Amino acid sequence: MTWHTVIEQSELANGQRAFYDLDDGTRVAVFNLNGDYAAIESMCTHAMFELDDAPIEGDNIICPLHGAQFCIKTGKVCSAPAYEDLKTYPVRVFEGHIQIQDEA
Ligand code: FES
Repeated sequence: MTWHTVIEQSELANGQRAFYDLDDGTRVAVFNLNGDYAAIESMCTHAMFELDDAPIEGDNIICPLHGAQFCIKTGKVCSAPAYEDLKTYPVRVFEGHIQIQDEA
């Protein structure tokens, strides 16, 4: 388990996201949701569509391709056609840096 620095805390404004590419090629998106930080894999589980530019509504991210919705905080599917949850990652703030933890 390794912590990776994604961005300075001061650089991630409310409603914004930042990205981190893990060694295995997984792209992780980290969000600031009203001061809560959450990290998900930035890839829709329905047809593997990239979610980097997907719109956010409240705590949900909406896949631009077919409209599936996922809760960013839990990764849970909220709306079809996806039925598999998004992978989530632990997030922490460490010495002013936002960090995510991978499983390796
Ligand atoms: S690829 Fe995301 S809903 Fe189909």
